[in-house]
Amino acid sequence: MVENNNLPDHYNDIDKIYHEIWSRLKIGKKDRNSEFHQCYVASSGNNFPSIRTVVLRHLDKELLTIGFHTDIRSNKINEIKHNSNLTVLLYDHVGKIQIKINGIALINHKNANTEAIWSKIRDFSKKCYLVQHAPGTNSSEATSGYPEHYENTLPSPQELELGYENFSHVSISIKVIEWLYLHQNGHRRARFTIDSDHIDKQWIAP
Ligand SMILES: Cc1cc2nc3c(=O)[nH]c(=O)nc-3n(C[C@H](O)[C@H](O)[C@H](O)COP(=O)(O)O)c2cc1C
Repeated sequence: MVENNNLPDHYNDIDKIYHEIWSRLKIGKKDRNSEFHQCYVASSGNNFPSIRTVVLRHLDKELLTIGFHTDIRSNKINEIKHNSNLTVLLYDHVGKIQIKINGIALINHKNANTEAIWSKIRDFSKKCYLVQHAPGTNSSEATSGYPEHYENTLPSPQELELGYENFSHVSISIKVIEWLYLHQNGHRRARFTIDSDHIDKQWIAP
């Protein structure tokens, strides 16, 4: 007989699952050591689907958005311009929870949103936006992408500000969230579909 040992509150409660999703995403955004600090963002490439790791930087439960920062010159931005549908995947291997989010991306570049965000970004992160060429550009030698005088040093505050040109914030308007929880007694899977005026909550077979 299978015992009901260690079943979490959310196991058979779809409302608690929804709550759990947002509280875990919140921790993911805040805590760089948490399992949900990174997520995997998939976009539609020309041929193969594209996917990459990014850091979860923003979330808003009321507005139903999540977001990340990236270089405006990167390939993902080009892909989003062609097709703004994104899928974001997160997996907490300790909690045995996978969350998959489908949404529509909005690119923020040199607007009031990016201005506000940029003013709070740490210098070390600002430096990433000073790579000379677009991320993904071929190089004849091993490269960090930085001009030589930036290697192993932090550029001056004035120089760091030049990175703002390349900085973008991709905000994703959530359409569907899918939850998968693994448990030896039986897995649990649920889908949350965002309609204009309500959230449709649906159990689905794992
Ligand atoms: C742990 C980790 C975190 C990363 N975070 C970001 C990020 O927040 N934003 C970003 O643009 N790239 C981030 N990257 C790099 C991307 O995965 C990717 O290599 C880069 O953005 C180029 O992707 P693209 O060519 O598909 O646009 C991260 C990589 C790792 C391994």
